[in-house]
Amino acid sequence: MKIKKAVFPVAGLGTRFLPATKAMPKEMLPVVDKPLIQYAVEEALASGIEQIIFVTGSGKTPLENHFDRQYELEDTLRKRDKTDLLKTIESIVPKSGTIIYTRQSEPLGLGHAIWCARDIVGDEPFAVLLADDLIQSETPVLYQMIKMFDRLRASMVATIEVPKEDTNRYGILSGEEDYDGIIRVTNMVEKPDPESAPSNIAAIGRYIFTPRIFDLLGDHKRGAGNEIQVTDAMVELLKEQPLFGFKFEGTRFDCGDKAGFQMANLAFALERPEIGPQLREYIKKIL
Ligand code: UTP
Repeated sequence: MKIKKAVFPVAGLGTRFLPATKAMPKEMLPVVDKPLIQYAVEEALASGIEQIIFVTGSGKTPLENHFDRQYELEDTLRKRDKTDLLKTIESIVPKSGTIIYTRQSEPLGLGHAIWCARDIVGDEPFAVLLADDLIQSETPVLYQMIKMFDRLRASMVATIEVPKEDTNRYGILSGEEDYDGIIRVTNMVEKPDPESAPSNIAAIGRYIFTPRIFDLLGDHKRGAGNEIQVTDAMVELLKEQPLFGFKFEGTRFDCGDKAGFQMANLAFALERPEIGPQLREYIKKIL
């Protein structure tokens, strides 16, 4: 069974970025010159995903427009001979029928957002990508995970090690390292205090799930922050099926957080030949 479908929950309120996110979706915040969601979609497509499923909410129209044609703009660029920009704009739009939208009518939590895609995904394993987790890597992280899924044939979540004092910002897992980079998960807790955290291994926003997760999310049990948490459904899944933590190759930036977002902008901008050297000089000067 191939992983062909990817779910992108984009219905959150993005309160940490207010007022920027008052009228603009958080996922449309740009890192250098590309919105976060575009990085995630490109990662999915480069990993062999054939169907993009957006779970949107109110106020997310700019995101839908971003992945659609903009004839007026295209025409102007053509008339001005801006061929490169025209190509860039055109390449954003996936093949017709590749993107499907569904709505989460209330932001009840990430678990609930994923559950909203149940009928579109159907009875097959699928990926979930959170655009706020931006990862700089040679091989797309989802591709690394799909390769591992081909071996393990089980649900999986990408993991990072976090400082002990940060465990209350993540789903934290406990388990045994089976072999290099693969952790057989035995338990998970959402946002535990550093004192009670079972480890410092945190789940981040790349998942592969078997469709069983939908039944477990369908219970609508509220968890941490009174939200329907995907972590809680993963704990239930663990009772029936194996679940693995996956240490990926790459650097992850938490773009849902102001500091992480600025770090991502710096890291990605420094890699750009047209602005990197100028920026490097400026950083040296102000430090
Ligand atoms: P976050 O936990 O970062 O929440 O969501 P948020 O609402 O986007 O941002 P803050 O914390 O208020 O600043 C992680 C991902 O899950 C999606 C978000 O859009 C984001 O991609 N999400 C979250 C939903 O789709 N629905 C929800 O109910 C909650």
